Amino acid sequence: MGKYLVHHSGPLSGEVVISGAKNAVLPLMAAALLSEDKCVIRDVPQLRDVAFMKEILTSLGAEIEEVEENTISIVTEDIVSTEAQFDLVNKMRASILVMGPLLARKGRARMPLPGGCAIGARPIDLHLKGLEALGAEIIFKDTYVEARAGGQGLIGDTIYLDFPSVGATENIMMAAVLAEGVTFIENAAEEPEIVDLANFLNKMGARIKGAGTDTIKIEGVKHLSGAKHTVIPDRIEAGTFMLAAAITRGNVRISNAVPDHLKPIIAKLRECGVRIEVGDEYLIVRGDLGPQSATDIKTLPYPGFPTDIQSPFMAYLTTVEGASTVIETVFENRFMHVSQLRKMGASIETAGNKAIIKGNASLRGTQVMATDLRAGAALVLAGLAAEGVTEISEIYHIERGYEKFIEKFRGLGAVIERIDD
Ligand code: UD1
Repeated sequence: MGKYLVHHSGPLSGEVVISGAKNAVLPLMAAALLSEDKCVIRDVPQLRDVAFMKEILTSLGAEIEEVEENTISIVTEDIVSTEAQFDLVNKMRASILVMGPLLARKGRARMPLPGGCAIGARPIDLHLKGLEALGAEIIFKDTYVEARAGGQGLIGDTIYLDFPSVGATENIMMAAVLAEGVTFIENAAEEPEIVDLANFLNKMGARIKGAGTDTIKIEGVKHLSGAKHTVIPDRIEAGTFMLAAAITRGNVRISNAVPDHLKPIIAKLRECGVRIEVGDEYLIVRGDLGPQSATDIKTLPYPGFPTDIQSPFMAYLTTVEGASTVIETVFENRFMHVSQLRKMGASIETAGNKAIIKGNASLRGTQVMATDLRAGAALVLAGLAAEGVTEISEIYHIERGYEKFIEKFRGLGAVIERIDD
């Protein structure tokens, strides 16, 4: 497995074009299992997680073709297996998203309990509670979980989620589209990726209203057809490059972005003193216009501050004037980047889910480890601002979720090498 060597770089300048969203494309691909017709998905980022999802879908009976660069077609004439294989599911938590479609189309889904980034316990109880409310029987055996629809198939119902889980909302939505009757998901997740999935499902013939609010109504239909869809831009990738501009005190144009999806990041960066010009589908981030100072952040479900930007933002906060507080409320174990940032000279104290970051750190390059996808991105940002060379190992985490990551950074003037062990 390779390593990144990140050299002190900056100020970054130029334009970066944001790819399709990882967290949108994975559920869209799973949703294609709901129809026997051809689905075409455009702006599909080339990522390890997308490759894993392709493998899972193929093992279930889908035929996937790369129509052109970043466009795939998925045809699932028949589901040949209702069981996702352990070695595939273990690599990626989002593989749980095939459960709803398998159950809806075949009345049965069997999955090993999923893996993914080590950022907390990440149970799937809310997914299962929702599927159970639609009439599925849930059976645990060894490390597997199985859901079985009764003789009449799935039946619509009202489901209240104890927490607005993104994955649970998606899974339940995909199961409910082919259920008999009407389903309401209350306290649903409101993330843009949920709206993107609902738009795709509606193009396939589903009847979903309210996606993007806390109550989603799904009227079941008998059959879904194929559809064509373009994935929304990746708001987390956009946020990461906004922070790259800020931490290097650079001037970067972020193209193919939806500024509406980035409101909390824009607001917090402006509070710190970063100038941001917001266009229709772009942002210009000016970290080069004057001093930058501390702010406080609390992660929340959308439209609150995204947990996936917490670690990159923390890396940035080590470089500003004054002390900042970061509170993580979405995941219980998402401060693994703290010890790595400390190795680079950051002064960060943690107590439970709260971190206090002293600014004006003199970051210096050393050997660090990407403990998860976004923690890895945080270390790349810190490496750009640090003196000397930062050697980042376990970069497969980063490559799970960022398309052409170092190429894009190099395009902005960063000096990053990828070396094989
Ligand atoms: C998705 C994103 C991930 C992001 C997260 C929160 C994808 C592929 N991944 O993950 O990048 O960080 O949303 O924005 O879209 N929970 C339960 N029971 C459940 C499900 C979740 O307790 O059944 C808890 C989790 O442990 C976590 C919280 O709910 O503490 C949020 O998880 P969830 O919104 O489900 O995140 P994911 O869909 O896994």
